[in-house]
Amino acid sequence: MSEYWSDNNPFFKVNKIEDLSIFINNYSSPCYIYSRKVIADQYNNLRNSLPEKFSIFYAQKSNPNPEILGLLNSLHAGCDTASLGEVKSALDAGFAPDRIMMTGPAKTEKELRFAIQSNLLSVNVESLQELMLIDKICSELGKKQKVLIRINPKFEAGEKNRIIGGMGVSKFGIDIDFIPEVFRQAKSLGNIEIKGIHIFNSSQILDWNRIYLNIKDVIDTAINFSKEHNLEFDLIDAGGGLGIPYSENENFLDTEKLGNNLQDLINNPKYKDFLLRKNIILEPGRFLSGLSGIYLTKVLYTKESCGKKILLTDGGIHHLIRPVLIGQNHPIINLSAALRGAEKSTEYIIAGPLCTSLDEFSGNAVLKEAIPGDILAILNTGAYGYTESMPLFLSHSPATEIFID
Ligand SMILES: Cc1ncc(COP(=O)(O)O)c(C=O)c1O
Repeated sequence: MSEYWSDNNPFFKVNKIEDLSIFINNYSSPCYIYSRKVIADQYNNLRNSLPEKFSIFYAQKSNPNPEILGLLNSLHAGCDTASLGEVKSALDAGFAPDRIMMTGPAKTEKELRFAIQSNLLSVNVESLQELMLIDKICSELGKKQKVLIRINPKFEAGEKNRIIGGMGVSKFGIDIDFIPEVFRQAKSLGNIEIKGIHIFNSSQILDWNRIYLNIKDVIDTAINFSKEHNLEFDLIDAGGGLGIPYSENENFLDTEKLGNNLQDLINNPKYKDFLLRKNIILEPGRFLSGLSGIYLTKVLYTKESCGKKILLTDGGIHHLIRPVLIGQNHPIINLSAALRGAEKSTEYIIAGPLCTSLDEFSGNAVLKEAIPGDILAILNTGAYGYTESMPLFLSHSPATEIFID
């Protein structure tokens, strides 16, 4: 991966490497730096591309930092949550309860009770037993709860293998074949209001057409169930999964084409009446937060093993596990070498301090030649970075998080 990739990176479009010299010169420990502007740009770009009928609910799991929640709330996003802690963080950040949804396959009674008492927009139900529990809690509290039924569909998010007769075993959602029974039973529960359906079935999609077809499939599914079971839906949650490019040969998602095609769908007579009073929710995480963050780490030592050059850094997978967990390299830049105008590039293994050979950021990063003390930036680490890692392993200190405008 070439370092020049940074020329196209949204973080480095709004922050020149020179602007970061304050962090490079005063570096004390590994840190994440997030750009508020990149998050706002990503949100505004998506908001301006999508038809009005679409709401954007930020998937907090991608990065729950309160600054990010506050910023997205101020931009009028909603919030998708997956635990009691996430619901509390969303409320603390100022999201109105009717702009918060809660999803998750194994919610505890305590979590459900809190969600019901908080009057959330919806609890997205992932099993019949959960539905029964919600009904029971509601009857104790004298409340009604709006729910979306989360479906494990028979189509993938895209063109390939559509309607393939089952997406397979999943702990998420309820298999589509069981859904008629769930609707039948839900109707007999006095404290449940079925508001619609939820389908989230893929992540990191860069092709606008695949996302478009997925949303269309979700809407078709809603139409079918609404007709079959005589249910008036208000909400259709078509999930997240909007991708960002991690490598040079990947494109940025064309949100304009996605939005234009969704508008055509809404205007299509086949869908127009059904969609008239419906709200469609997208719940992107990575698309909003991913490009905003870089992770800085210092080269402590350089060494060679069996002909491979290795950079040993003070940061490791206790702060950023995603590259090794998902097997996806993130672009890496040697910021110090860029500032001193270094010319020559070399291929490196970049590895951290943990006592496991898993602790690598890359096995083949091409960087400007590094010397001990150089500060490296690992790009596109705003999503599934800080909180997805394993901070307690080897008792190192956590990374610092810094926001810049
Ligand atoms: C239910 C749900 N919604 C939204 C998301 C966000 O996905 P992404 O960050 O790919 O947009 C996830 C990710 O796991 C999810 O499980």
